Amino acid sequence: LVMKIIVVKNEVEGGQEGFKIFENAKKNGAHVFGLATGSTPITTYNDIIASDLDFSDSISINLDEYIGLSADNDQSYNYFMHEHLFNKKPFKKSYLPNGLAKDIEAEAKRYDKVIEDNPIDLQILGLGRNGHIGFNEPGTPRNIGTHRVSLTQSTIDANARFFANEDDVPKEALSMGLASIMKSKHILLEAYGAEKADAVKGMIEGPDTPDLPASILQQHANVTVILDEAAASKL
Ligand code: GLP
Repeated sequence: LVMKIIVVKNEVEGGQEGFKIFENAKKNGAHVFGLATGSTPITTYNDIIASDLDFSDSISINLDEYIGLSADNDQSYNYFMHEHLFNKKPFKKSYLPNGLAKDIEAEAKRYDKVIEDNPIDLQILGLGRNGHIGFNEPGTPRNIGTHRVSLTQSTIDANARFFANEDDVPKEALSMGLASIMKSKHILLEAYGAEKADAVKGMIEGPDTPDLPASILQQHANVTVILDEAAASKL
């Protein structure tokens, strides 16, 4: 299986390429969009906002959410999605895991049912520096659905810049599993910057291993990867 790789100059161009994939998917009848947070998809979301694409009949399902942050906490993924997309491009229905659920196991089950009832046509992904996707950290079993995650120190460190101090950085999350991600009909992964270059190389050229979660995408028949030159520099 071959991933389709598009190398662009910078993330502004990458955003445009990503936008075209959303546009095409919509044209071809896609109805359920798997969405991601992080800085990576922002340029694609900006182009979606600037376009006349209409998602008011579509469904969105987000990858993950921190445990313990409420939707109005400006570091929650719920808040992020409203800020960067939903406030300007509303969907008919937008799902995110509820990080405040009293019973996290039950919430994970509920979320799996949402995904099962709404098979994802196009899933957009960023890439963690250690090769994680969603919050599926290295070593995550590949056959599970939505689950509770203890974040690795590398991810906590990467997120620390968004919080006043490290103690405020959530240590846990709820994430869609790799098995759920792999069921998406089309996967679009974007990665920008030199700090992603090792993960990108491992994902595309390295062994297919749970140690680098994104390498599972080598098994998917319809993956498009958009990289800037820095992220592609080790290929
Ligand atoms: C977090 C998110 C991932 C995201 C990653 C990279 O860990 N859970 O979905 O891909 O960060 O973030 P960024 O796009 O800001 O580099």
